[in-house]
Amino acid sequence: MTLHAFRGSALHYLEDPLTHAEHASEFIEDALLLVEDGKIKALAPYAELRHKLEPSVKLVDYSGKLLMPGFIDLHTHYPQTEIIASYGKQLLDWLNNYTFPTEAKFSDASYAKSIAELFIDELLRNGTTTAMVFATVHKASADAFFEAAAAQNLRMIAGKVLMDRNAPADLCDTAESGYVESAELIEKWHGKQRLSYAVTPRFAPTSTPEQLHSAGQLLQTYPDVYLQSHLAENHDELAWVARLFPKARDYLDAYEQAGLLGSRCVYAHGIHLSESACERLAESATVLAHCPTSNLFLGSGLFDMQRISDAGIRYALGTDVGGGTSFSMFRTLAEAYKIQQLQQHSLHPHQSLYLATLGGARALSLDHLIGNFLPGKEADFIVVDPQATPLLSFRTAQCDSLTEMLFALTTLGDDRLIYATYILGNLAYLQER
Ligand code: GUN
Ligand code: ZN
Repeated sequence: MTLHAFRGSALHYLEDPLTHAEHASEFIEDALLLVEDGKIKALAPYAELRHKLEPSVKLVDYSGKLLMPGFIDLHTHYPQTEIIASYGKQLLDWLNNYTFPTEAKFSDASYAKSIAELFIDELLRNGTTTAMVFATVHKASADAFFEAAAAQNLRMIAGKVLMDRNAPADLCDTAESGYVESAELIEKWHGKQRLSYAVTPRFAPTSTPEQLHSAGQLLQTYPDVYLQSHLAENHDELAWVARLFPKARDYLDAYEQAGLLGSRCVYAHGIHLSESACERLAESATVLAHCPTSNLFLGSGLFDMQRISDAGIRYALGTDVGGGTSFSMFRTLAEAYKIQQLQQHSLHPHQSLYLATLGGARALSLDHLIGNFLPGKEADFIVVDPQATPLLSFRTAQCDSLTEMLFALTTLGDDRLIYATYILGNLAYLQER
């Protein structure tokens, strides 16, 4: 048995602030976080817990800093790390000009390994401890990611991309080979350590109806795997889907007809949706991943959080690297705020930090394991430094409420705010100063 103790301010969420005006969050100014064998044992005011500590337990003192659960990124692409910040295109041209040529390099397992490791380092530097991740069409690219995540015992979800049309030949599989390779990867990785598999049809335009059906069969055969894809991101994409799937009622229906809706299915974007599509997403408990920096960078449109919440659709946040422009969940929250501002809604910092932690865990049906500091949860957490930069130090000193301070952090923050990242109670990243 190993017990670790951490002192600092602590913030976590117990409920959704939208539905629970009171008691959604817990903030303890001077807290003690106890971690036993990688799991949360207790969180309480330092003054209450300190006498219960055996003198032999080593206390790590983060006074002046903020302990929070690790961030959860619902949607990102590790092979696109190297094309982040590529100029001048909207979705379909961006895929053809930047994404596909880059993804072709991942047939090389050693190249895939090097980028998977770099990507995971970048996640940890940014305080992200769980992510749902696209590999490429190559089976070896998924193996490379799972191996890199397993080496650090991370809780990650990933899958090999399925694409059998409208992409370069060297990036295409077939309905059959995609099924077989996905099944092999599921058998190898799903449930191993803290890893889960996501069946990953890239998006409707690059899969034939046969391939989407074979993805549906994978979900039937392996009911506890996830599905990840893209939905209703860009107007040209919508028009293309309408041409490719003339029998579908709308974009969502192309997936629905293949049995690809449900509580373990996560679709990035969902910006341009009809009322009917919203109703069907809500009824099926399907999840949307809102990716603010990507939607702005690719000029895709404005996700209407109020409408999606009111419709009862489950959602949380993704970075969508490399259509997205940052690995940082703080940067993502800053852009999420501005996107809602443009629609006359003010996203509260408690709401956005909830979405980045417990909300993300709930969206992935992982809230029994991660997302907050309740006893028994896995101790993936971050140490946030509100004085990370001269400007942050100056600005946070002016704040006279927690809300103001959190809003300053979510507006100005980036990787510099992440002082340390812990995985199962062990230090996985410490900022060099
Ligand atoms: N739609 C299909 N593929 C992609 C991708 O790689 N990134 C984004 N943002 N949208 C997509
Ligand atoms: Zn994406």
